Amino acid sequence: MTIGILTSGGDCPGLNAVIRGAVIKGDRIHEVPFVGIHDGWRGLVEDDIVPLPRADVRGISRAGGTILGTSRTNPFEHGGAERVRETMDKHGMTALIAIGGEGTLTAARRLADEGIPVVGVPKTIDNDLSATDYTFGFDTAVSVATESIDRLRTTAESHHRCMVVEVMGRHVGWIALHAGIAAGAHAILIPEVDVSIEQICGWAEDARDRRRAPVIVVAEGFVPSGEEHLHAPRGLDAFGRPRLGGIGERLAPEIEERTGIETRSATLGHLQRGGVPSAYDRVLATRFGTAAVDAVVEKQWGTMVSLIGTDIELVDLHSATTVLKTVPRERWDEAAILFG
Ligand code: F6P
Repeated sequence: MTIGILTSGGDCPGLNAVIRGAVIKGDRIHEVPFVGIHDGWRGLVEDDIVPLPRADVRGISRAGGTILGTSRTNPFEHGGAERVRETMDKHGMTALIAIGGEGTLTAARRLADEGIPVVGVPKTIDNDLSATDYTFGFDTAVSVATESIDRLRTTAESHHRCMVVEVMGRHVGWIALHAGIAAGAHAILIPEVDVSIEQICGWAEDARDRRRAPVIVVAEGFVPSGEEHLHAPRGLDAFGRPRLGGIGERLAPEIEERTGIETRSATLGHLQRGGVPSAYDRVLATRFGTAAVDAVVEKQWGTMVSLIGTDIELVDLHSATTVLKTVPRERWDEAAILFG
């Protein structure tokens, strides 16, 4: 047996810890060698593969990014299962571990359906996969966002300004909710909850009236009430999804105009995906990596490792990729009691 491992889609802190966990357990317990696939599915369809001995994963769990590189290549636009099988055979690969988010795991599921022996590992800072309680990367992203909001608040207070802070969160508002609560935001705007510009301004004015600098946290996927479309002026990515970013910049002048409070915006963007993973993310990622190699040895094709409570379990890739884990309304209501 030889296992190919790849990281695909947007990167996130903790990818290297998965790779290290899988390779070391593979070497020490199962005596199976690994090969590394460069840049996700691109490396498989373009045959960009290197040996991945244990020595190459030494000490990498604290490193951000991914030693294998990543891309948003969709294998089904480049020969699909047939091409993947060809490259696997050429390198004597008998199984694949695919580490990725919704797009990557959907491709993995389709490949598994067509007979490719693959096990998935979920990753996304957005924490939007319903089949796992948490994904690694989320904790780091929330910490980065919280620290950034804390910093932005001090400058906003000095100048008696309102600060709109945009965080990532394409379909769901988990990062905004957690970072917003942690940093004591005066409003948290997420894709799941309809909020009008009047209500946002009302919260900003309430905070200002108490001599506070209003801090508004907005997820990139938020659509103000009454509008139909996402704010996505930057075109589409390789999967045809709108490139998000800019809703904070759009809201700031409107808040300023309506309330008279001088308002600035800051978009945290990829800062939330970069840098060293938190301790929590390193632990979860390492556990996912070691569990994934066990799943491969047990030939559990078409499954994904997942965190249920505090246990690592295997779930079907179908269930893992069909339902988004959105923020329940009552979780936002809980936080909204403290807005304004
Ligand atoms: O899916 C994770 C994510 O970080 C989203 O929150 C964001 O919309 C997207 O990736 C950004 O992707 P890219 O790195 O391609 O700009």
